[in-house]
Amino acid sequence: MDSKGDIENVNLLSNSLVKRNKTRWAIGATLVFLLLQCVVSGPQLLLSPLFTPTSQAPPVGMDSDLASGISWFACPDVTEFDCAFFSVPLSYATPVPDERVSLALRRYPATAPKDQYLGTLFTNPGGPGGSGTAYLVERGPALSKILSGRYDILSWDPRGVNMTTPPLGCYTTDFAEFLQEFKQTQLGLPMSPHYTLANDTLSPGAAAAQAGADEWYLRTDAYYQATVSSCAKNGNSKILSAVSTAHVVQDIRSMLFALGEEDVGLNYWGFSYGTILGATFSAMFPELLHRVLLDGVSDSVTYTRDMYTWGKSGMNDTHLVWEGFLKECAAAGPTRCALAGEGRSAEDIETLVWELEERLLAHPMPVAYTGLNSGILTASDVRLAIFAALYKPFAWPSLAKALAAAISGDGGPLIDMNGFQSLDERRDRDPLDNVFHRYMARPLSKPVGSPLSTEAIMCSDTLRSALLPPGATEPNQTYFRQWAEELALQSPTGENWARWIGRCRWWNVTAAEVYRGPWTKEEGLRKTKFPVVFFSMDADPVTPLSAATSMASGFGKDSATLVINRGYGHCSIAHPSMCVAKTMRAYFFDGVVPEWGTTCTSDPGQLFPDSSVLSQGEHVPHVASMTAEDVEIWEALQTLASSEHNMW
Ligand SMILES: *[C@@H]1O[C@H](CO)[C@@H](O)[C@H](O)[C@H]1NC(C)=O
Ligand SMILES: *[C@@H]1O[C@H](CO)[C@@H](O)[C@H](O)[C@H]1NC(C)=O
Ligand SMILES: *[C@@H]1O[C@H](CO)[C@@H](O)[C@H](O)[C@H]1NC(C)=O
Ligand SMILES: *[C@@H]1O[C@H](CO)[C@@H](O)[C@H](O)[C@H]1NC(C)=O
Ligand SMILES: *[C@@H]1O[C@H](CO)[C@@H](O)[C@H](O)[C@H]1NC(C)=O
Repeated sequence: MDSKGDIENVNLLSNSLVKRNKTRWAIGATLVFLLLQCVVSGPQLLLSPLFTPTSQAPPVGMDSDLASGISWFACPDVTEFDCAFFSVPLSYATPVPDERVSLALRRYPATAPKDQYLGTLFTNPGGPGGSGTAYLVERGPALSKILSGRYDILSWDPRGVNMTTPPLGCYTTDFAEFLQEFKQTQLGLPMSPHYTLANDTLSPGAAAAQAGADEWYLRTDAYYQATVSSCAKNGNSKILSAVSTAHVVQDIRSMLFALGEEDVGLNYWGFSYGTILGATFSAMFPELLHRVLLDGVSDSVTYTRDMYTWGKSGMNDTHLVWEGFLKECAAAGPTRCALAGEGRSAEDIETLVWELEERLLAHPMPVAYTGLNSGILTASDVRLAIFAALYKPFAWPSLAKALAAAISGDGGPLIDMNGFQSLDERRDRDPLDNVFHRYMARPLSKPVGSPLSTEAIMCSDTLRSALLPPGATEPNQTYFRQWAEELALQSPTGENWARWIGRCRWWNVTAAEVYRGPWTKEEGLRKTKFPVVFFSMDADPVTPLSAATSMASGFGKDSATLVINRGYGHCSIAHPSMCVAKTMRAYFFDGVVPEWGTTCTSDPGQLFPDSSVLSQGEHVPHVASMTAEDVEIWEALQTLASSEHNMW
C-alpha cells in the first residue's frame, strides 16, 4: 500500500472523514472473513419446500424476460465490459407479479475468433456476499486469458449483494453499516494463547486475556443480536428472506435460459463459497450441467446442516499453511524473508511470533498515525494478519516484514495490514451517487464486500439450531465460549472463524426456500449430465482437502472427479500451477475429465521469491523455456495470484 503519498491530503477530523480523492478504508479485521456461514431456523433437514426440479421447463415467472433475453450495454464504469440488469421473481416458489429482484450482471466478452467460441462461463468469487460485478473487473480478463478468450466470462451480484436490488435495507447507508462493523473489529479476538502455546503455563499476558475472554464472548454475542435487530427493525423483510443459495441457483438457471444456453448447459467456475453455490446448482439441476469446476471446495453438507462442524472441519488444514509459511521463510533466509535469520529454524521463527503476541497481550503497542491508521496494536491484530495472509502466499513476504517490524517495535506496517488501506470509499454518501445511478454498496474492506450480505446469505442457508440451544433468548458467553475455544484448539486461527460462525447465532430470518440436501448418491442425489470437477489445494487455510474429497465422494464417480494440487493458499489461483491450468483447459475446451485423484504441484520459485529475479520479469526459472501461449497463461496466473483481492 503506498500509504505515504496519501498522507498529506487525508483530512481526518476526529472520527469523521472529510472527503478526499482517494479515500478507502479497509478493515483487515473485516477482511478476515473470507469464507462464509449462517442459517434458517426450521425443523427439517433436506429438501425444503422448494420447487420440483422439472428439468427443461422454463423457470417460473420468467416468460416475458426470457423472450427478450438479456439486454447488454457497455458498462459506464469500465467500458470494455458489458453490463445488464436482469429481472427475476423474488420468489420462485410463489411468484407475485410485482415482486421482482433486479440482478446486476457484468461480462467480459470472449476475445477468441468465432469458430473457437464456447459460450458463457458463469463465475462466482465466493463469500457468500462477494460482489461478482466488482470481482469481474479485476479478475475477468485474467480468467479469460487462462481460457484463451474462448468464453464470455459472466458474473453478477447475487441477491442481497451490492447493485442487485432491492437492497437488504438494514442500514440507510453503507457508511452506517461500516460504523457498526467497525465497532466489532475493535472488540478483536479473545485470544486464547493458552490453547496454542506449547505448554499450559499461562504467561501474565495470557492470564489477563483469559480473564477478559468472558467479557468478549458476551459483548460479541450481543453485537450479533444488535445486527439482527437492525435488520428486524429497518430491513426489507421480503428480500431478507429471499437471498438463500437456493434462490441464487434458480437465478443462475434463469440467466442460462435467457442466454439461450439451456440446451448446452451450465459452464461454471466457482471459488470458495462459489463451490457451495455450484454444488447446490449441480444437486438441484443435474440435467443442466455442462462444465462445472468447483475450486477450493467447501463442505456443503455441514454448511447447510451444522455450521459449527463446518467451521471446525474447515480449519482442518490451516496449520499446514502456517507451517509452510514458517518453513519456507526459514529456507528463504533473511534476504527474502524478513523474519528469517542466519541459522534460524522454522521453530525459532514461530517462537518469535508467539512471543510477540504474548508481549502484546500484556502490553498493547501504541502506534502513531501512519497516514491511514493509528491506535494500538494487539495480539489479536497479529492473529488476524496471519489468517488473512495464509490465503495467499503472495502476501507472505509482506506479512513477514510487518511481523518483523512489530517485533522491533514498529507496529505501523502490521496495523496497516489489518486496518484501512485507503480512505476513499469510507465516507457517508448517497448510495445512488455513482455512474450507474443505481443503488451501490462500497466495500467495507478492500477485498470483501458487506459482512451483512455474507451473514444474510450464509445464515439463511444453514440450520440455526446447531449454534443456538433451544429456547435461548439472551447472549450467552458460556455456550459461545465452549465452541470458540474448541475452534481455537483446532487451529491457530480458529477464534477468528468462530467469530464468523457466531454471526448466525441470532439470525432469525427464515429463508423462503433452502436446499440442504440430498448431498450424496445414498441420500438420493441424481446423476449429473457431465462430471463436476472438485479441485483442492492440499494445504488450504479454509477449504481443506478433506472437504473436496468428501464432496466429490458424495457425488460419486459418475457425477464427479477430484483434482488435487500440492500447494499453499486458498483456491488454485493462490499458488499457480501450469499443470492445473492445463488440466482445467482440457476439461473446459474438450471435455477431458481428469482421472479421479489427478495430482499437480505448484510451480517452483513463487514462495518468498527472489526479488532480483522478479524485477527482470522472470517469475520462475522455467518461464524461459515456455511456449508463447504458455507464457500468456502463466502471466494471467500471476496476475490472479498477486491480485489484492482474496478469493473467499
Ligand atoms: C511453558 O511456557 C512458558 C511461557 O511460554 C515458559 O515460560 C515456560 O518455560 C514453559 N515451560 C516448559 C516446561 O516448557
Ligand atoms: C429477531 O431477533 C430480533 C433481535 O433479537 C428481534 O428484534 C426480532 O423481533 C426477531 N424476529 C423474529 C421474527 O423473531
Ligand atoms: C482432517 O484431515 C485428516 C487428514 O489430514 C482426516 O483424516 C480427517 O478426517 C479430517 N477431518 C475432518 C473433520 O474432515
Ligand atoms: C459494487 O459494484 C461496483 C461495480 O461493479 C463496484 O465498483 C463496487 O466496489 C461494488 N461494491 C462492493 C461492496 O463490492
Ligand atoms: C448458557 O449456556 C449454557 C451452556 O449451554 C447453559 O447451561 C446456560 O443455561 C445458558 N444460560 C442462559 C442464560 O441461557
